[in-house]
Parts: sequence; structure tokens; C-alpha cells
Amino acid sequence: MSTPDTAQRSLDHWSEAGRSGMEAFYALATEDYRQLVLAADWPTLLGQRAHDGWSLLDVACGSGKFPTALARHADLSRLPPVAYDLLDPSAFSVAEARSVLVDPFVARHDLVTTLQDLPEEYAGYDVVWATHALYALPPDELDTAARRLVAALVPGGLGVVAQATSGSHYLRFYDAFRAGVQDATPYTTAEGVRDALAGAGADVREQRVTYRTGTADRVVVEGFLQRCAFDDSLSLEEMEAAPVLGDYLASCRDTEGTYTFSHEAALLWF
Ligand SMILES: C[S@@+](CC[C@H](N)C(=O)[O-])C[C@H]1O[C@@H](n2cnc3c(N)ncnc32)[C@H](O)[C@@H]1O
Repeated sequence: MSTPDTAQRSLDHWSEAGRSGMEAFYALATEDYRQLVLAADWPTLLGQRAHDGWSLLDVACGSGKFPTALARHADLSRLPPVAYDLLDPSAFSVAEARSVLVDPFVARHDLVTTLQDLPEEYAGYDVVWATHALYALPPDELDTAARRLVAALVPGGLGVVAQATSGSHYLRFYDAFRAGVQDATPYTTAEGVRDALAGAGADVREQRVTYRTGTADRVVVEGFLQRCAFDDSLSLEEMEAAPVLGDYLASCRDTEGTYTFSHEAALLWF
């Protein structure tokens, strides 16, 4: 039997069966969201769009790590309640994100769909965001997805996509995995999303943040990397021994065996 391609493996893993892998991933990846919160003055940016009856679309909501990080690291107490629509092709993700929302975020519609297939009546949002969200969206469907994203935002609203750049860990790791272990459709990059947004008519401003994550705990590293590839069949030892992927992982490891992953995320404001 052939291995399912990237988008299907993503969907298979964003499921109840994939819960332990998701939790292993966020042992390190929670930092991605803290970095996004620290990168901007969210109370002011959101406050400028806030009004009675405002609305927000969270694209590829996953398990809600970004709104959770916002609630933890920013003071949103002055914002009025915002109707929060949850979009994700995984019903598991939508339910997870719904269960963690706190004020001022008030869950409204569950939109179990890909971004590319979002019906056109979902528009007029004051805020649209997609945070570390679009990697498994096939690059050849990115133009359609970007058009939907831009069309969903009310004129003058706040749109932002946060995504790793091509030189960042998630992309370098998956490229090495595809070259050395299993060919697959590549992840989309921040650069690809930026170009697609511009092609869809958005005026995009790019901001970049760099940071590192890491640990000496090999169990944590294994769980994190398995989720980075949506493949829990490979042990860390097998990944380290694989062609191309092994070289990349060696470049992330010091002589004591501690792993450090280098990240660069682009915040694409539109
Ligand atoms: C890493 S999670 C996103 C994390 C999330 N933004 C958060 O704050 O926790 C990636 C999500 O993208 C979803 N996804 C994959 N392909 C998608 C697509 N084409 N359109 C929308 N969402 C997609 C997956 O089902 C998964 O739930």
C-alpha cells in the first residue's frame, strides 16, 4: 500500500487517534505561538477593529494554540466579545479549538472545510488569521486559497498569516524527509503564501521573527519530529540514519546530543 500524500497524512493525524502525537509536538511547538504573540501589540491591533458585533475567522484553527497563547501572554480584557468562526477540514481540530476559547473569543460557526473550499458567503470578517496553519495546503491550490482568504476580510480589516519561511526548521526538515525517506507534496512556505496573497490583490507587509527551540530529551525530539513529518512509523534512530534527513538532523545536534531547531516565521499582514 502506498503512503498517503501530505494533505491526507495531515488530516489523518489531526484526529483523536493522533492526540498523543499532537501533545508530543506541542512540547516544543507551543513556543511558536508565544513568539507570535510577542511579535505584535495585539490588544491595540485588535482594539482598532473592535466594535459591537465584530467577527473573526480562524483559518486552520488546529487545537487553538494561538488564541490560547494570546489569552496567556497579552491583555485582551478591554476588547468586546468577538464572534469566532473556526475553520478546519478536521472536525477533531474544530472541536479542540472550540473547547479552549476564552473571553473575548466566543465560538460561533464550526466550518469543517479546507480554506480552498470555503463557501463564498463566509465573508465580511473584521479579523482573519491563519497561524502556522497552511503547510499541508497543496502549493498548487495556494492561489485559490489566498483568494478565499483575502475575500473573507472586510475592507480595512486585519488579516495575518504566520508561516515558517523556506529556511526555517519545518520546511528544511520536511524537504530532507521527502528527499531521504518518502517523496511527497512539499509544504507551502511563507514565501509562497506571500506571493499568493499579493497575487490575490492583498497589500502585504512582511515581518520576520527568529527563535530557537530544543531539548536533550530524545523522547521529546522523536515525538516532535514525527509530527513534523506526519509519520509516526519512524524512530529517531531511523531518522538519524536516513540519507539527507540524517545530515539535516546532525546539523541540529551538538556533541552532547542536544537538539536545537532554528525557526524563522513570517508574519504576513494584509
Ligand atoms: C498546526 S495546525 C494549526 C494550528 C492553529 N492555527 C493553532 O492556533 O493551534 C494545522 C491545521 O491545519 C489544518 N489544515 C490542513 N490543511 C488545511 C487546508 N487546506 N485548509 C485549512 N486548514 C487546513 C489541519 O487540519 C490542522 O488542524
